[in-house]
Amino acid sequence: MTDDVSRLLEADLIDDADVAIEGTLRPRTLDEYIGQREVKANLSVLLQAARGRGEAADHVLLYGPPGLGKTTLATIVARELGVNIRYTSGPAVERAGDLAAILTALDERDVLFIDEIHRLNRAVEEILYPAMEDYALDVMIGKGPSARSLRLSLKPFTVVGATTRAGRISSPLRDRFGATYRLDFYGEDELVAIVNRSARILGVEVQPEAARAIARRGRGTPRIVNRLLKRVRDHAQVHGDGRVDERTATDAMRAMEIDDEGLDSTDRKLLAAIVQKFGSGPVGVQALAAVLSEEVETIEDVYEPFLLRLGFIDRTPQGRIATEAARQHLSRLGFEVPPPRRAEPEMVALWADPPAGSG
Ligand code: ADE
Repeated sequence: MTDDVSRLLEADLIDDADVAIEGTLRPRTLDEYIGQREVKANLSVLLQAARGRGEAADHVLLYGPPGLGKTTLATIVARELGVNIRYTSGPAVERAGDLAAILTALDERDVLFIDEIHRLNRAVEEILYPAMEDYALDVMIGKGPSARSLRLSLKPFTVVGATTRAGRISSPLRDRFGATYRLDFYGEDELVAIVNRSARILGVEVQPEAARAIARRGRGTPRIVNRLLKRVRDHAQVHGDGRVDERTATDAMRAMEIDDEGLDSTDRKLLAAIVQKFGSGPVGVQALAAVLSEEVETIEDVYEPFLLRLGFIDRTPQGRIATEAARQHLSRLGFEVPPPRRAEPEMVALWADPPAGSG
């Protein structure tokens, strides 16, 4: 598979063109936003209340796998509050002074979006605590014994933080968020609705079965279904009359090497490694990362969440295992599937010593 194809299923934004496409398809209000019903309902109350009081909204932490709409929601928060939003990310803010510059430039009630907030360094985090809690900026003046701390006030503002995993955030930082919401993978019907909405915006005719075929292979992720839709549209334009029917959609996705469950070649390689090299597991994530030449973090944040949700892998204290469903999926695709090394639970039960006194 080419790099382009494997990148198609990555939920991270790839380049500027990608960002621009996302921009046109992104919902701009909570009403337009499909899915994440509970998060929307809670956010709606939080925003209405803040608006009613004329105050900055509470700080909001959004967590969940990439591509599920964290940046979109942050943008909607600012829009619904009628304020500006400033975007930054954990790795982009290198020094305490960088954050101080951003904070002092915010207007009253503005939103500061910090993506990958778990990657802020310690010195920067420490500036953020009083800023979030008291809208205060503590600056050190001078050095050594004569150093003094000076407290400057900031205009009230709202941090919207985003992370792929809430557990990565230090607890003092986590405590400073008034609301924490978890974004979950989207259901198939929600993704169908997103495909239809995006198709309308792009001006492409998509038949209902085709919309469902795209949704089913979209890994529960709006960013991925939107990207698939664009590729399928290209396919329909080049090989057909521009309209997307089910056949065109499935042909296009087969050409992209996306299987019926929406797995790409890296997903299949990961499952095949567990099944073929490690006897279906358990295997530690470091060993898997080494075999696949991937970062542990990429495996944990990008690939595993969806495979876990499909029930294709399980996490056990001993490591990852490939489930029977995964083994069957690979077998249907023609992979060699050796018997699992681990004892199946039923077998363990059969071999276990009978309870004392049972004969
Ligand atoms: N496009 C991307 N994400 C979306 C969502 N959650 N609702 C509507 N359109 C979207």
